Formats: sequence, structure tokens, C-alpha cells
Amino acid sequence: MAFSLETDRDLQPLNSFGLPGRAAQFLTCNSVSAVREAVRLPVFARAERRLVLGGGSNLVITGDFAGCVLAPRIAGFARVGETADAWLVEVGAGEGWHATVARLLDERLPGLENLALIPGSVGAAPIQNIGAYGLELTSRFHSLQAVEIATGELRSFSHADCRFGYRDSVFKRAAAGQFVITQVTLALPRRWSPVAAYADVARGLAQRGITDPSARDIFEVVVATRRAKLPDPAMLGNAGSFFKNPVVGAPKWAQLAAEHPEIVGYPQADGRVKLAAAWLIDRSGFKGQRCGAVGVHERQALVLVNHGGARGSEVLALAQDIVENVQARFGVRLEMEPVVV
Ligand code: EPU
Repeated sequence: MAFSLETDRDLQPLNSFGLPGRAAQFLTCNSVSAVREAVRLPVFARAERRLVLGGGSNLVITGDFAGCVLAPRIAGFARVGETADAWLVEVGAGEGWHATVARLLDERLPGLENLALIPGSVGAAPIQNIGAYGLELTSRFHSLQAVEIATGELRSFSHADCRFGYRDSVFKRAAAGQFVITQVTLALPRRWSPVAAYADVARGLAQRGITDPSARDIFEVVVATRRAKLPDPAMLGNAGSFFKNPVVGAPKWAQLAAEHPEIVGYPQADGRVKLAAAWLIDRSGFKGQRCGAVGVHERQALVLVNHGGARGSEVLALAQDIVENVQARFGVRLEMEPVVV
């Protein structure tokens, strides 16, 4: 049997925030067939609450989970084909994201180096279309396989089916809670060129005197940048960016830019402007602030941290305080990024 069922499982070591909580039932699945079987078990199918748990790096646990958690721990890494522009590599949902990026580089399949060191599993990556340093998964994604929870059937999702957006996909909307992603097929460009325009990447390359970067150079700059700015969850619990960067219309941007000439915003193709939430939070005075066991990271205002012993409710209270302050100061509503359970 490729799945195992535990009861009263501690979730604290399984979420990067290190928040306390226990799951009434916990199913670990090591293969696609195990997932197909597990979703049909009454313990999962009839559970009051269900949660599919990947790497646990985008999660706020608010207490005990009176339901069934399913952890797809499917391994696998295989070249499965090619298109006119890309090499296709199918990766099991349970593989670590960063290990996959590193392995692709080792196997001379560059293209994901800007997404180095993002915590979490491969299966979780499409759900929020992970992105960093000028690249989003959507640019390197081909398709995925997922088990439909209601039927146990395996279904394919094409790129278009996933409806990717900024930190968004169909799995956060119409298909939310209905599928367990089991394999992701990545599309690595046959003709690679560096994605090096993001300020931190350009600066890191310039500091190293690199003008014609290799994928390995970019990988190293991204790893160094993340290590310098973002807390390592193994040392200080966190879930990465806690809020999405809010997108505002041109009139709102004009008003904010007039009132705050130093505000940071990135124009979007549709004429709207994506604001740096970190800047808004920083200018609201929260950076480095501590409130009991929780706080705002001292080097990145978008990251909330667990200084030790925090509960999910404290994280949410601090988040609420930030949302209200930013709203009052700038008239912009921040939206949380992690999943709250
Ligand atoms: N900034 C501040 N104060 C701070 C931090 C940043 O004013 O404390 C300003 C910076 O000066 C910069 C701007 O805010 O001009 C943006 O900062 P940064 O480049 O660090 O990126 P970000 O927009 O805060 C996003 C992603 C990160 C990703 C980085 C790099 C979101 C929600 N977050 O952060 O993703 O690593 O860009 O590409 O889009 C994550 O999703 O968990 C995550 C870490």
C-alpha cells in the first residue's frame, strides 16, 4: 500500500511558519495510484475539512485541524519530450522546488535559475504561479497532472487550463479544493537567454563584474540575494511574502506618486501599476517591529516572522494591524498571500 494513515499528527514541523496545530487524520501518499485510492477513502472523502499539504511554506495554521490532511509525496524527474521551443521535464509533486531547480541546472537544462531557493514542493508551485526576480512559473510551465478529489480520476491541465495570473491560478479559484496535483511538466527553453533586468539581479551581476551571465551566475546571485534579504525558515519561521503586491489603476497611482514621490511601483501591460507592498508596510513603520512572538522581518517588510512560540492567531492579528494601517495611510487594501487553515 503506497499510502499511510496517521491520527493526531503534529503539523508544527510541517509548516515553515512553525505554528502549532494537530491534524485529526493525516494521509501520506507516495504514488499517483495511492492518491487516487486515498481520495476515495471515507476518512478523506467524508472528512469535515480537507487540506492538501505540499511543503507547508505558504500556510498559516490557526489551531488544530479537525479533518483530514493529504500529503502527496510523489517523487520523479524525467525528460518526457520536447516542443519547438522547449525541453519537457516531468517532475513529481513531492520533489523539493529548489532541489529541482538545482538539478535542472546540473543537467544543463537552465531556465528556472531566477526561482532558486523558493521553499516548498513542485506540486505547490503552479497553485500560486510562484515568481521571483523577473520570472514566473507560467513562463516555464507546460502542463500538469492532478487527481480529481470527487472521482479519483487523473486529469491533465494544459497551460491555458491553469489560467495563471500574478500569484494566481485556477487552483485558487474555480478549481480550488478539487484537485491534488501529482506531476508538473516544466518547459525549459531550448534557446536560453538570461532574465537579468530585475534590480537585485542586475546589481548582483554588476558587483561580481559579470556582463555576459550564465544560468549558474544568475542562480548564484539569486541565492545570495535571497540569503541576504529573506529569513531562512529553518532559523526563523515565516511563509515568505505575507501579502501580494497590490495592483492599482492609473488615477490612484498618479495620486500616490504625487503624494509620495519615492513610492515604488511597476507599470503593468494593461496600464495599471503594481505597488511594492514592502514599501507601503515599511513606510507605515512596521519594518523590524515585534509584537509578542510575531514580527515584521528587519530586512524585508513583506515577510512576517515567528520569533518563537507564536500562534496563528497572533500572526493574523499583526497582519490585520498592517492591513488597517496601510489602508488608512495610502488608501490601498493589502491582500494576504498564504493559505489560512
Ligand atoms: N522595499 C522596501 N522595504 C522593504 C523591502 C523592500 O521599501 O523592507 C522596497 C524595495 O526597495 C524595492 C521594492 O520594495 O524597491 C520591492 O522589494 P523586493 O525586490 O524585495 O521584492 P518584493 O516586491 O517585496 C517580490 C515577491 C517575492 C520575490 C521578490 C523578488 C511578491 C508578493 N513577492 O517581493 O516573493 O522574492 O519580489 O522578485 O510578489 C514570496 O512570494 O514569498 C516572495 C518572497
